[in-house]
Amino acid sequence: MKIIHAKDYSDMSRKAANIISAQVILKPDCVLGLATGSTPIGAYQQLIKWYEKGDVDFEQVSTYNLDEYRGLSHDDPQSYHFFMRDNFFDHINIDLANTHVPDGSNPDAEAACSEYDRMVAAAGYPDLQLLGIGNNGHIGFNEPDDHFSAGTHCVDLTESTIEANSRLFDKAEDVPRQAYTMGTQTIMYARMILIIASGKAKAQAVRDMCYGPVTPTCPASILQLHTNCVVVADEEALSLCPAE
Ligand code: F6R
Repeated sequence: MKIIHAKDYSDMSRKAANIISAQVILKPDCVLGLATGSTPIGAYQQLIKWYEKGDVDFEQVSTYNLDEYRGLSHDDPQSYHFFMRDNFFDHINIDLANTHVPDGSNPDAEAACSEYDRMVAAAGYPDLQLLGIGNNGHIGFNEPDDHFSAGTHCVDLTESTIEANSRLFDKAEDVPRQAYTMGTQTIMYARMILIIASGKAKAQAVRDMCYGPVTPTCPASILQLHTNCVVVADEEALSLCPAE
């Protein structure tokens, strides 16, 4: 793992956006694996600015998002489909037909997940997979467990994830209890992983990911075994890590 120290959230966002834009410049028709949540918003905003200046072009890029809540339609403002359009896709020149998010509106979990796996495999897996990290070490919605997951599957969200995500809903009861998520194995197939973290709430998870044992009780710890994984984290998120 390569750990890049950022000063704060905006420095982390700019560094992450630099790495993503380098990928798009090096391979204009690349496949990006993307994440939602609060952490990547600053990187998306930076990429939008560079797109507007003409510095980066998304015309040939295709994307596969990590996850989606089960039971939300694509135009539900709480859905990750909506989030991606609102925070990124509607502001750049990407072809929406080349953007993919698991289909949370399909109640048939088995069909929705196997179809998504088929599509990600057919695309050859991401050249670069952007990840955030949960306070409990989850990646995608792969929650702490007694085994690492494989392909896209339906998960029951943990109470701590429901609570963390409730800030984006009117009430905690409104947070969906299940989600479809790419599995850990699928995430590991990406040729490069870029995982970003900001703030004190992530400090223990970042320490466990980078320096703890590789264990499914901290799903992000598997990234220690990836041959091309870059962590970009700010001072607060790195505050429990040994000084290097
Ligand atoms: C989002 C995702 C999640 C988030 C994680 C951190 O697509 O897969 O794993 O990356 O929950 O969320 P934030 O960035 O909101 O702290």
